Amino acid sequence: MIVSSVLEVRRLLDSVRRDGQSIALVPTMGALHAGHASLISHARDESDFVVASIFVNPLQFGPSEDYQRYPRPLDKDVELCNKFGVKLIFAPEVADMYVGPQLSFVDVPKLTEHLCGAFRPGHFRGVATVVLKLFNIVQPDSAYFGEKDFQQLCVIRRMVQDFNLPLTIVPVPTYREPDGLALSSRNAYLDPVQRAVAPVLFRALSLARKIVESGEGNSENVKAEALHLLHSAAGVRVEYFEIVDDEVQPVATIAGPVRIASAIWIGTTRLIDNVPAG
Ligand code: PAJ
Repeated sequence: MIVSSVLEVRRLLDSVRRDGQSIALVPTMGALHAGHASLISHARDESDFVVASIFVNPLQFGPSEDYQRYPRPLDKDVELCNKFGVKLIFAPEVADMYVGPQLSFVDVPKLTEHLCGAFRPGHFRGVATVVLKLFNIVQPDSAYFGEKDFQQLCVIRRMVQDFNLPLTIVPVPTYREPDGLALSSRNAYLDPVQRAVAPVLFRALSLARKIVESGEGNSENVKAEALHLLHSAAGVRVEYFEIVDDEVQPVATIAGPVRIASAIWIGTTRLIDNVPAG
């Protein structure tokens, strides 16, 4: 079932809750792919009633970003949701989510200083704010987020901790194509030549992980090797390549578990990915 009204979602879910069913939420912006399907499958395995939200959230896009051209194949998305066992799709219009101009926001400053936060001002404020709204509308017992968006996952976890939100955040590993490219709705922007170049991002992250795991503790040395590989790929511009801790702070010396994260541009398409290491 697909619903756009906040009141209607609340009414339907009240009765699901009264039945004693556990509710899981999978927030998405649609253009669903196998990565989203993996989140939905995990949610379905671990709860009674899966809600997927589909909403391209204007608040998290910068003025020169791809809000307008972001793909919106709703019929295909509904098909995928049905196939993977979603019981309720919440697909609001902008006016359903933002009744008036939004004046209240969630900011998670420290965790958003680096990586994507440094290059997309206001992005994580938009994400955290819409996710808090979704949590309040759906009131799920659990919500599923992909490790693909590592910084987003950190921000949401911290918001849940800081505001004592009564739900469990469940991380799901990144789902990849056979050549290593992480699935993303934005991969659809790549032409065949660019698509052939794109796996270099995961190759560079994997190389960095291998160097860390062979005992190299100096982040700069690790980054230099990975950057060398990225710069050798035709048409790739590196936005950042960083090694961070679990508070998304860059580390100079690798002494424990870290995340290696990168964003690159291929033409007008921005790709992000990350791997754990250490
Ligand atoms: P979207 O990019 O549609 O992603 C929805 C969820 O799917 C996120 O938790 C994301 O990390 C996860 N995901 C995307 N690609 C994945 C992959 N290859 N493997 C595993 N998980 C993957 O992220 C957003 O939407 C928005 O910011 C949102 C949280 C919905 C707020 O608007």
